[in-house]
Amino acid sequence: MIEVVNLTKRYGDVDVLKGLSFKVRRAESKIILGNNNSGKSTLLRLLMGLEKPEYGKILVDGKDITKFDEDELIKYRKNKSIVFQEGALFDSLTIRENVGFKLYDEGWDEEEVDEIVFKLLQFVGLEHTIDMYPSELSGGMKRRVAIARAMAGEPTVVFYDDPTAGLDPVTSRTICDLIVKLRDIEGVTSVVVTHDLSVAYFISNFMAFIGEEGNILLRQQEKNMCYINNSFLVMRDGSVLFDGNEMLLEECEDPFVRELIS
Ligand SMILES: Nc1ncnc2c1ncn2[C@@H]1O[C@H](COP(=O)(O)OP(=O)(O)OP(=O)(O)O)[C@@H](O)[C@H]1O
Ligand SMILES: [Mg+2]
Repeated sequence: MIEVVNLTKRYGDVDVLKGLSFKVRRAESKIILGNNNSGKSTLLRLLMGLEKPEYGKILVDGKDITKFDEDELIKYRKNKSIVFQEGALFDSLTIRENVGFKLYDEGWDEEEVDEIVFKLLQFVGLEHTIDMYPSELSGGMKRRVAIARAMAGEPTVVFYDDPTAGLDPVTSRTICDLIVKLRDIEGVTSVVVTHDLSVAYFISNFMAFIGEEGNILLRQQEKNMCYINNSFLVMRDGSVLFDGNEMLLEECEDPFVRELIS
């Protein structure tokens, strides 16, 4: 679905991305690991079409989005979402207005938006916060609201930038559950930047499915099954060090990769 070819991004005279190439398949989660400053957030902004590279292509469904003008980019971004590293809620808007932002912007009917916003907040277990302001929520709650907001408008692609940073293990787990559910139940393609290996392995190893009673269940996948819908990319200083599934990651002999996953 996404093919990045020789992507180069420069700020001032520093190449932050140095000729990156990789692919993301439809309904796959691509987990990006890497040290600080390796260009992960920059890469997500480019994939979302928020910035342009110096060189290279980003082919999405065969079209190079780096050549898009602003109108084409607005259309491109319609069914894509990004969860920024800091969550980035609008402090002066209520949770309802934050989550419904994109839908209001697209001119949806207010009652319709209300209904959707409520359902999205229910999905992340925060419907009771609907009339609160971000300042009244904890860090973990804000992150879950940011994910609910990213889900508005039923995106087919979601870019998550370190979505569990600073969260306790239980809250982290609820966010991993959401990412897996969106992937396996809704067929959402995702790119997930994370510094947390337990998050990376959870997303790689678990699958969501619909149980007999119509409820969504999660199950640890059998070994070798988990590689179908997930892959890893390891970045270091703007370059790709590793690209492949979990089994290959475990076998990778690059010392930096070994240290990162040990
Ligand atoms: N808008 C910008 N202007 C100038 N330099 C930038 C800009 N955005 C990022 N950079 C630089 O690009 C480099 C990579 O930053 P980036 O945020 O992409 O790293 P990262 O891999 O996301 O790091 P972290 O793991 O800490 O989130 C950094 O040196 C940063 O200072
Ligand atoms: Mg970052």
